[in-house]
Amino acid sequence: MENEMAKEPEGKAWQTDGADSNVQAQGEGDIFLSRLARHHDELRWLYMELYGNDSMFAELCDRLRQFYLERNRDLRFRDRGREEDQDWYRKNDLLGMMFYIDNFAGDMKGVESRLDYIQQCNVNYVHLMPFLDTTKGRSDGGYAVSDFRRVQEKLGSMEDLESLTAACHKRDINVCMDFVMNHTSEDHEWARKARQGDGEYMSRYFFFDNEREPAMYERTVPQVFPTTAPGNFTWLEDAGHYVMTTFYPYQWDLNYRNPRVFNEMMYNFLYLANKGIDIIRIDAVPYIWKELNTSCRNLPQVHTIVRMMRMIGEIVCPGVLLLGEVVMEPEKVVPYFGTVEKPECHMLYNVTTMATTWHTVATRDVRLLKRQLDIVNSLPKEYVFLNYLRCHDDIGWGLDYGALLPEGIGEKSHKQYLNDYFQGYAGDSCSRGELYNADPVTGDARFCGTTASMCGVEKAGSERDQEAMEKAVRLVLMLHAYMFMQSGIPVLYSGDEIGQVNDYTYKEDPDKAADSRYLHRGPMNWKLAGNIRRRDTVEGRIFQGLSRLEQIRKAEKVFVSNADAWTIETGDRSVLCIGRYFDGEKIIGLFNFSEHGKKAWIHETDGDYVDLISGEESKPDEVEIPAYGFYYMKKK
Ligand code: GLC
Repeated sequence: MENEMAKEPEGKAWQTDGADSNVQAQGEGDIFLSRLARHHDELRWLYMELYGNDSMFAELCDRLRQFYLERNRDLRFRDRGREEDQDWYRKNDLLGMMFYIDNFAGDMKGVESRLDYIQQCNVNYVHLMPFLDTTKGRSDGGYAVSDFRRVQEKLGSMEDLESLTAACHKRDINVCMDFVMNHTSEDHEWARKARQGDGEYMSRYFFFDNEREPAMYERTVPQVFPTTAPGNFTWLEDAGHYVMTTFYPYQWDLNYRNPRVFNEMMYNFLYLANKGIDIIRIDAVPYIWKELNTSCRNLPQVHTIVRMMRMIGEIVCPGVLLLGEVVMEPEKVVPYFGTVEKPECHMLYNVTTMATTWHTVATRDVRLLKRQLDIVNSLPKEYVFLNYLRCHDDIGWGLDYGALLPEGIGEKSHKQYLNDYFQGYAGDSCSRGELYNADPVTGDARFCGTTASMCGVEKAGSERDQEAMEKAVRLVLMLHAYMFMQSGIPVLYSGDEIGQVNDYTYKEDPDKAADSRYLHRGPMNWKLAGNIRRRDTVEGRIFQGLSRLEQIRKAEKVFVSNADAWTIETGDRSVLCIGRYFDGEKIIGLFNFSEHGKKAWIHETDGDYVDLISGEESKPDEVEIPAYGFYYMKKK
């Protein structure tokens, strides 16, 4: 980096838009060349291994340079800052929020006008849910993209996106978007040409003119949507071909064996990065490489592609992070970080911890969660996880069933129990929600609902039960307090900050009715958000409770991502204890997952402590914790 700085001509070429003058272009080009030089050999090696195509590689390099030169001055400046502070996203100051643009504020301009609210939420990372062109009724919530270079008309335009990202950057807010790279919509230009029989475009997808090959794949490839979209292929009557459709029939899987697909998708990625995106969420990434007689998940070539994306990002736009969407068990997730020398994603979802958290809510037994946190805490500290309670998707019950078996808990019956519990069928459940993709053959099902509904806010509200509401609010706050205590970046699901409940109106919309994930994708209730300053309201209590936690998290350095983190045995099955230590500072978090008061049999008698929430002196030594209570005890 020092060298690159030295090559920059006086007068800071990156303060202009590049190619305006030869001298400046020269300086810009040097930065590009030195970044390319750093990665060239490995990039070329991997590209050749996959594609063996020299001219396509040369084209890729040319286009990288173009995208670099087109990247605007502010973004290049951002890149430079981040290159010099490579740990910029590993601190304790990032808090994310994800939302659908229309649900949150109508359109992009609406989001821009709500940035004050976002800052009131202490949020400085917004994940804009899919906003690229898609076909109404065949969109999978925007995950079926028909044009990677066009914003859905109802949400705005590319200019609006640029204006929004610039406005966010002025306020130090990072912007995340989805890059749906596994498939395109059947309405994408490539798909339309392929459907008409254009061989070049057919080769960008998986087309079969016989039943035999699809049937061979079906033998080993699991189903993603067994009830809403069974199978992995769709018969196209007009084209007389089967096409591979792992997700919905209108989402055609791209064939990354074709270097044209890889190159063009990289150009789309860079085009979007140049609109001011800071974090690119690579959607459904484990699925992008297909191979007969395999599960078509997590194949080695997927890692080659992600590694190439990482290098391409570092060459053109090093300020941009890759967030991998790998909703799988830890052994499959962790390889997507790559190695220290050859990193892949900057960040990954902490999905098993999320699912295990809800298991703990249902069972009031923290043992599996403790085990899961021990696994995560033992990983290298460079790994950054995205922590969350809820997101736009269902919860799949991907737990460590091997660890539950000795307790006599079997996978099938336990999934059934969790689904019953969260639908509110079990006696002690206050949850409300619905199943998702219940598979009649395997008996498997996933679950949908908002945090508040799953914690009892919806039930208590509809029954006007004050006491139950009290408990529900306490549970919401305790879960967030625990989530914030994990290493990584916490991301809120919009609406959770005011305890928003399930939205059942999706059932009346024919485009949504079949997909129960819309239950937790309701519009932001701005009327209720008007209560955030009123402590006598549910919204106010949750919002202010979270605010307090968020402020503490940002103020205390023990929350940095690479602090030591560990769990402590509490002697009570319902009480979780997490310790964090960094640079002479130590904090002990206690979290009671039971609706009854409990005692944590811990003995941290190494000094005086203060509870950061109440500001009172405290002693992490045999601590009484009220129902769904928590403490953040900091050593003085
Ligand atoms: C990801 C998204 C999900 C979508 C799928 C297909 O898993 O999170 O919402 O249905 O990809 O693109």
